[in-house]
Order: sequence, then structure tokens, then C-alpha cells
Amino acid sequence: MQEQAVAWRKAGEDIGFVPTMGALHAGHDRLVARARRENQRVIVSLFVNPAQFGPTEDFARYPRPFDADRVRLEALGVDAIFHPAVDQIYPPAFKTRVDPGPLAEVLEGKSRPGHFKGVLTVVLKLFQIGQPKRAYFGQKDFQQLVLVRQLVRDFALPLRIVAVPTVREADGLAMSSRNAYLSPAEREVAPGIYRALKTAAGRFETGLTDPAALEEVVRDLLEGAPGVAIDYVALVDETTLRRPVRAVAGSVLAVAVKLGSIRLIDNVVLGAERL
Ligand code: PAJ
Repeated sequence: MQEQAVAWRKAGEDIGFVPTMGALHAGHDRLVARARRENQRVIVSLFVNPAQFGPTEDFARYPRPFDADRVRLEALGVDAIFHPAVDQIYPPAFKTRVDPGPLAEVLEGKSRPGHFKGVLTVVLKLFQIGQPKRAYFGQKDFQQLVLVRQLVRDFALPLRIVAVPTVREADGLAMSSRNAYLSPAEREVAPGIYRALKTAAGRFETGLTDPAALEEVVRDLLEGAPGVAIDYVALVDETTLRRPVRAVAGSVLAVAVKLGSIRLIDNVVLGAERL
């Protein structure tokens, strides 16, 4: 893959790269379509990265519908699919890990220790292999987006990170490969997450700027929902990931909940559609 990518770049072609773990849905499609529009070549990786799963997480049962993914990507007109085996990315001699620093210790990182170390390590390797001019990431995984941007800055990587707005089901639920695991009853409750975020975003529009109060709006709505266990509700600055004194346009309201055994995350940017 790397040789092909280097040859494309030598020929003056821009590569758009979309890293994924497969089990593709319309959210992934949106990233690929954007990459298709903006680059001569598009590479999509399908790799369920063991390094970013905790010992009690769902690595083994993460869906791997490779044939369906391949058909989907061919229909989207990608130039190459990179689908490595685990020991191609992590051969026995592999030792180096990327330490993401303090921004990985809050929100998702607090609940999932080591997660972002695994994400940044694989993303750095994938960038080396895919040689992208642009790489596409979803705003749904907002903290991941912030940390990947930090990786690119800190290591002076010669590429641009493009953020793509969250793609949702008709009822507002953010698309996720994990939604397929929800029971019918959980699936009915799940859109309440986005409704709660939108309600709080609406309160911001009408003048509520106290971060704790905005978080409370979301908590109150979610606490009433059957089967929902809140992991966190956090109003944060979009770059420091710290709670600001006052919410402003661009602040991010992020939540993680467990619905039964399924962990779902979502977020909205206050006063704006996108980051
Ligand atoms: P995965 O969960 O497969 O997501 C791949 C990309 O799709 C990520 O950038 C994610 O933010 C984006 N995405 C997922 N759901 C989306 C939605 N509803 N709308 C818009 N974009 C969405 O994120 C990962 O894989 C991995 O951590 C990875 C970056 C591939 C590293 O292993």
C-alpha cells in the first residue's frame, strides 16, 4: 500500500485518506464522499485496532463485515482499500507508542484509559502508509478529532485534517457501528441523547451560558430515560477540553451514556453546526 501511495504522490496526485474500523454506515460514507470530491486518489483503511480497546471492551465482537464493506467502498469509487492483518500493523518487533498527553485524560480518555494512545499510534502508522494530503475524521468522535489534530501539529505531519459533521438517523441518533447492538427498547430510547443535547443547545441560544446549568439540562432529560446510565455530560472548550467559565459559540457539549451494555457518545457544538 505504501509503495502505491508514494507513487501516486510522486505523480503529483493528492491522496485523501479515511481511516475506519469497518462495519461501514452512512457516516463513513460521508467522509469517503468528501475525500472523493477533494482528491485525485482515495484510500480507506478497514482495521479493527486492538490497541484502542480496553481489556473489558468489545474488540472480539466488534463487527467485521469485510465483503459488504468492500462492495460499499467500490460503489463509492475509492482507489484502494487497506485491510491489514493485526501483525502487519503490529509485528512482534513493534514497540513505539504515541503518548497523547493531558487531553487524553478527560472525557473518553478518563473512561477508557489507553484508548487514545492506541488511536494515535495506529493513526500515525496509517498516515505513514497512506501518505495522505488530507485525512477525514468525523465530529462524532470529537475528542479523537482534537487529538489527531494535535498529533499532526506536534509531529509536523504534512497533511490536513478535515472534520466532517455527524451523520444521523432520521430520528437524530448519531450513526455508529455499535447501534446495531441495541435492543428494540434501547433503540427507542437512544434518540433521546441527541434530543437532550439539542434542548441544551437551544437553552444556550436563549441566553443560558452557565456550563453546569447546561450540563444539568442534559442530565435531567437523560436521567428520566429508562435503561440509560450516564457516564459523563460535559460542556468543554473545543480546544482545551476544559470547562470554560461561560459557554460561548463553539463550546462543545459532549455526552457518553451506557444503554444496557452498549456505550454511546454524541456531542453538539453550541451556536454552530460544525467545528
Ligand atoms: P470508526 O469508529 O470506524 O470511525 C471512522 C471515522 O468515521 C471516524 O473519523 C469517525 O469519527 C467517523 N464517524 C463515525 N460515525 C460517524 C457519524 N455518525 N458521522 C460522521 N462521522 C462518523 O474512529 C475510528 O473508527 C477509529 O478510532 C480510527 C480513527 C479508525 C482509528 O482506529
